[in-house]
Amino acid sequence: MAKNILVTGGSGYIGSHTVLQLLNGGYSAVVVDNLDNSSAVSLERVKKLAGQNGDRLSFHQVDLRDRPALEKIFSETKFDAVIHFAGLKAVGESVEKPLLYYNNNIAGTITLLEVMSQNGCKNLVFSSSATVYGWPKEVPCTEESPISATNPYGRTKLFIEEICRDVHRSDPEWKIILLRYFNPVGAHPSGYIGEDPLGVPNNLMPYIQQVAVGRRPHLTVFGTDYKTKDGTGVRDYIHVTDLADGHIAALRKLDDLKINCEVYNLGTGNGTSVLEMVAAFEKVSGKKIPLVMAGRRPGDAEIVYASTEKAERELNWKAKHGIEDMCRDLWNWASNNPYGYDSSKGSS
Ligand code: NAD
Ligand code: UD1
Repeated sequence: MAKNILVTGGSGYIGSHTVLQLLNGGYSAVVVDNLDNSSAVSLERVKKLAGQNGDRLSFHQVDLRDRPALEKIFSETKFDAVIHFAGLKAVGESVEKPLLYYNNNIAGTITLLEVMSQNGCKNLVFSSSATVYGWPKEVPCTEESPISATNPYGRTKLFIEEICRDVHRSDPEWKIILLRYFNPVGAHPSGYIGEDPLGVPNNLMPYIQQVAVGRRPHLTVFGTDYKTKDGTGVRDYIHVTDLADGHIAALRKLDDLKINCEVYNLGTGNGTSVLEMVAAFEKVSGKKIPLVMAGRRPGDAEIVYASTEKAERELNWKAKHGIEDMCRDLWNWASNNPYGYDSSKGSS
């Protein structure tokens, strides 16, 4: 029988791509999402892309902090594991509204862990972030590198990681995998699902995407005086479908009797500068991205990229796609859906 996976935040960017891989990988997925930062259209499209496998998807519009609603979902289905994506993720907003972030991300996670425990489901995969490496003293970042946070969003990731370690220490029946994502970009190659941020995008590639479709006049490059090959910041961009596959690998690892509370980086191990990303996008899209050079963005690190050895060795997973694939699939999604899921409301 198909394994049942509860996916919190499953209608969001990474969640929707992961749900599709779950369905195609033979799992059943129950999504819980309050739709605060996503559209239910994403899951309608996932269902279509999955064909017959789409029958194994169900959705509940529920806030994680709504304990009775969550308990009801657990009483209806016995889950083999939970993949926990749900959370708010805008760094700037977290500085302005720290309590919103602590309440949503941390209280939401605690409610989830309590309800899981009560129902005997103690297998968890959690979305952490490379943000916990702060400004790394050394790259590549390994899972043993020092961790810290410079803003409330990052602190929610640090705290939740620590909460998970404590929960495992208190009850070794728990098996927990903390996945530290580097910079997820791109879209499913169908161009049917992708990233659809609300408001002005904070991250590089969604911003470039909106410039390319004419929604914004130019990209502001934050920082041209870093000690990098061309002066702009360097990151480890990872195709969202590779990231989604990393979750399937993590679920398989949870079957391993030896797993405790383990951390894995999900990145490619390659560093790419802002200007290199712009050039790759221009090449595959044929679109010119006008640039305005500006000062550094507060809180930004110079160079961040992953050591991928541990995930390769222990999860048997490795990213397959390079930056041209990421840009091509992003452009395919953006050009077909210039206004994200909104433009297709009613005709999805
Ligand atoms: P997203 O905003 O597209 O998805 C998160 C989903 O969680 C949204 O659909 C939102 O509506 C839902 N949600 C938020 N709070 C909720 C709550 N209290 N109850 C129910 N649903 C709730 O973001 P994403 O890019 O898909 O990120 C998924 C996870 O990965 C997040 O935890 C994020 O912090 C983490 N992460 C993302 C990145 C990135 O660059 N995208 C990098 C590192 C880590
Ligand atoms: C940001 C967040 C980080 C989060 C990550 C993934 C900050 C300080 N950090 O990291 O916590 O985990 O996103 O969601 O916000 N850039 C531009 N112009 C833009 C946007 C970005 O030049 O309009 C540059 C940045 O300076 C950086 C690179 O592009 O050098 C990547 O930026 P971004 O996509 O925001 O990711 P991170 O900085 O890694």
